[in-house]
Amino acid sequence: MPDVRSAAGLEVLVVGSGGREHALALALARDPGVAGVHSAPGNPGTAQVGRNYPVAVADPEAVATLAADLGVDLVVIGPEASLVAGAADAVRGVGIACFGPSRPAAELEGSKAFAKAVMVAAGVPTAAARVCESAEQVAAALDEFGSPYVVKNDGLAGGKGVVVTTDRQAALDHASSCARVVIEEYLDGPEVSLFAVTDGRTVVPWQPAQDFKRAYDDDAGPNTGGMGAYTPLPWVPDDLVAEVQRTVLQPTVEEMARRGTPFSGLLYTGLALTRAGIRVVEFNARFGDPETQPLLARLRTPLGGLLYAAATGTLADEPPLEWDPGAAVAVVLAAEDYPALPVTGQMITGLGTGGADGSVVVHAGTARDQRGHLISAGGRVLTVVGTGAELAAARRTAYARIARIELAGSFYRTDIAKAAVEQRAGER
Ligand SMILES: Nc1ncnc2c1ncn2[C@@H]1O[C@H](COP(=O)(O)OP(=O)(O)O)[C@@H](O)[C@H]1O
Ligand SMILES: [Mg+2]
Repeated sequence: MPDVRSAAGLEVLVVGSGGREHALALALARDPGVAGVHSAPGNPGTAQVGRNYPVAVADPEAVATLAADLGVDLVVIGPEASLVAGAADAVRGVGIACFGPSRPAAELEGSKAFAKAVMVAAGVPTAAARVCESAEQVAAALDEFGSPYVVKNDGLAGGKGVVVTTDRQAALDHASSCARVVIEEYLDGPEVSLFAVTDGRTVVPWQPAQDFKRAYDDDAGPNTGGMGAYTPLPWVPDDLVAEVQRTVLQPTVEEMARRGTPFSGLLYTGLALTRAGIRVVEFNARFGDPETQPLLARLRTPLGGLLYAAATGTLADEPPLEWDPGAAVAVVLAAEDYPALPVTGQMITGLGTGGADGSVVVHAGTARDQRGHLISAGGRVLTVVGTGAELAAARRTAYARIARIELAGSFYRTDIAKAAVEQRAGER
């Protein structure tokens, strides 16, 4: 695609409405090469960065039409549902650069069976697995791998598709509720999230982050979309990123190109660091939430230029990424009864203007009521990101800021990055 950037700078449209998208909009707005940031549908946070436009994110034609009407230079797509529906293809179809994989490439996230097949073909280390479509196959696979059982719905399930259990009946029950399941070997070890920006050939890995999926402290309670995250990870081996680049990212991107469905956009690798070595738990085809929030707080490389290079196939010409040497800790404020039936419509106060302490409030499930007051509108309401020279300082900043925010019934985890600060994060 030719370089058609506007002389005044890039006009960018961010698609989505979560914390990830507000963090992306904030980082894009910091890029001196970006002239304007638009969001669709956005949230009250993105409305402070640029204008919000209504759109159905899973409707590719609607996304492409909006991008064309706005005349933007670049579209950045956040949600997996949008990518799996083909929004990136539709945007490229109207001649606009898009950061995000095509519909077939997004199957790396959209189908766990497809991702396994790609990993096997590319020789990428991952849990041994069987794809099952009948009760007999399920029973045989459960017996083959033994307990703890890992049963994954093949398709997108909004974070509710995976059951890990020692209860064989529970494993059978989950499998029978899915049309197609992947049953796999249990991986024992701490988990790490690694993002990489790619244009389909060149792969640029980011620094690793770790997220916290369970609702309550000490990994108790139900699974959630993510309750917090931090970066960097002082406890991982120094050569982790280089090893993942060599054994996971590059072979996967090459295999996707070889199949005629090159993957461009954000390749998110969920890793387990097992005694036997690095294993891929899953791929996602977009930025992770909430890891994006602390990672972007530390990324010094202008984001718009980087994503535009990935979208236009020129990543090889970009300078190496630059990172703030300090740390960032993100803590999610969740609504009462999240994730079961989150209470919404409650007044949020105490946000202040902040910033002086290096903290940022990133909006997700927030809205404005008729009088313009900020209210809760989703399960994960907002994320507070604290930065500092060390993880301990970033943690203190994030927790001091979130403690001042008032939302009836809300809660947050108090142990985000705690084990890392206490130098026991790599333990199992
Ligand atoms: N093979 C495995 N062994 C142990 N735990 C696993 C395995 N696969 C997944 N898990 C656990 O389940 C979580 C969700 O699985 P994942 O494949 O990431 O699916 P999704 O994010 O789509 O729900 C992982 O973060 C991990 O904690
Ligand atoms: Mg996952």
